[in-house]
Amino acid sequence: MNKQKKSFQYKILVGFILLLSVSAISFAALGSKTITKMAGYITSGEYMLAARQMHGANGQGHDEIIMPGLKGENATPEESEELAIMFQNFDKITRKVENLPNGIRTVTHASDEAVMAKLVSHVVGMIGRVENLDDPKIFIQSPTLDIFFMRGDKIKSEIDVTDNGIIVTQTSNDPELVDALQTHAAEVSDMADRGMQAVHEAMMKRMIK
Ligand code: HEM
Repeated sequence: MNKQKKSFQYKILVGFILLLSVSAISFAALGSKTITKMAGYITSGEYMLAARQMHGANGQGHDEIIMPGLKGENATPEESEELAIMFQNFDKITRKVENLPNGIRTVTHASDEAVMAKLVSHVVGMIGRVENLDDPKIFIQSPTLDIFFMRGDKIKSEIDVTDNGIIVTQTSNDPELVDALQTHAAEVSDMADRGMQAVHEAMMKRMIK
């Protein structure tokens, strides 16, 4: 009996040491700032509410959702709402991307008229922001966008709204910008294919890098 009790206490001690080691390794790998930021966000009431509602929609969010990650330090409520509507309706959005030697040509279409209107407004608004180097600082935004808000004046953009969708052609003489345009176009395709799941996975990958 005494022996059993001792072995139980021993297991608890080993478990505790393991837990401490995992926490120490995570801290070293991610940096205390990232963890504190994540913890603050995750324990906020706002996140809890959104998570409950998002997970209620099987993580894809086809019901009424608040997505706090779509707010931005420098974004309007309308811009965040547009993003939320696109994410809620990603299954209605289709897209073709052509990589050009000096940029991209994309055709994006939403089968629902209201979603199409939000998509057009998003594209026009965001490309306008890039031209003015005016970063919306949306919480979940990809770091691929950083270079656009530093050197966006070196991107030439053309937007055409047609029955087949919104056609965006963006070119640059700066090879780093061309790279970023192509990477971002692929990220947009992933969001249009898989919605928030694509964003969550990209964020997790960045955190454990
Ligand atoms: C379902 C989600 C989304 C869709 C369907 C979407 C769609 C698009 C499309 C079609 C473009 C034009 C460029 C291209 O075709 O590759 C674009 C540009 C842009 N989007 Fe989104 N977007 C989404 C999410 C986001 C998010 C979360 C952000 C965060 C800030 C964002 C910021 C931008 C910016 C800054 C641009 C301009 C980039 C440039 O000038 O090259 N988008 N988006």
